[in-house]
Amino acid sequence: MISKGDIIVPKKIKDGLRTDFVGREIHHFTEVTSTNDVAKELALEGAEEGTIVISETQSRGRGRLGRKWFSPEGGIWFSLILCPKMSVKDAPKITFALSLAMAKTIIKMFRLKVRIRWPNDVLVNNKKVCGILTELSSKSGGAIDFIVSGIGINANTNLKSFPKALRKSVTSLKQQVKREISREAFLKAFFEELEHYYKTLTNSGFAQILREWKSLTDTLNSYIEVTSFDKKDKKVEGQAIDVDQDGALLIRLDDGSIKKVMSGNASVRVQR
Ligand code: BTN
Repeated sequence: MISKGDIIVPKKIKDGLRTDFVGREIHHFTEVTSTNDVAKELALEGAEEGTIVISETQSRGRGRLGRKWFSPEGGIWFSLILCPKMSVKDAPKITFALSLAMAKTIIKMFRLKVRIRWPNDVLVNNKKVCGILTELSSKSGGAIDFIVSGIGINANTNLKSFPKALRKSVTSLKQQVKREISREAFLKAFFEELEHYYKTLTNSGFAQILREWKSLTDTLNSYIEVTSFDKKDKKVEGQAIDVDQDGALLIRLDDGSIKKVMSGNASVRVQR
């Protein structure tokens, strides 16, 4: 049972929040299946762009590529509704903007060593602290109707509550800064950063986002293994040489050929 002192108070996020639309409407729950499910229902009912759904725990949190997302107390599990005037093929760019905003928020608030692993895991001292799952609904003709971006941050999560198999590869902000963090202050700062990068993307295009994203990634120039989900689960190994204007990762394979991967999971074997 979650004690009252430990729950997120939306009013504390909204007070003094300097955004035009992100976080102006916040729905807070103690437990849901997945905040993405609730956000999707709200979007279908016509919720405003920028609406946030937060839950203290999720009973069926999901990660990318059909994985389960472990969502115990103390974390920040939330979804954001966006309605960009973009085509479906450009949706990954949103996730680049979100991971960049997340990395910048952690750096500004805690001065930690933050890296983004393609496509959008945020790592602190080489361990995952945040994951993003973007799901969308589209109109006919390939335009996006709405996007639900689900973001999971191991904020004050106690790592002992994670399955043993995960403990080596994940961390929490609490573990890194050696104290509980204010989840409301963190969300306020993140919403402001996120609106800034979302506006940059929608008004000025992907180039600036990609430039800043590249300055924070650990993936480029490293020797990596990628499980590509473009067609079937297929492992490829090689040197990550670039991310192109669509957000695809370009890998130089050992035989010298270049492989383009749009969607997958990367692990860094040798960092350069
Ligand atoms: C990943 O696999 O790295 C993405 C994880 C995304 C988790 C978040 S938590 C809030 C939202 N609700 C979900 O069920 N998933 C996302």
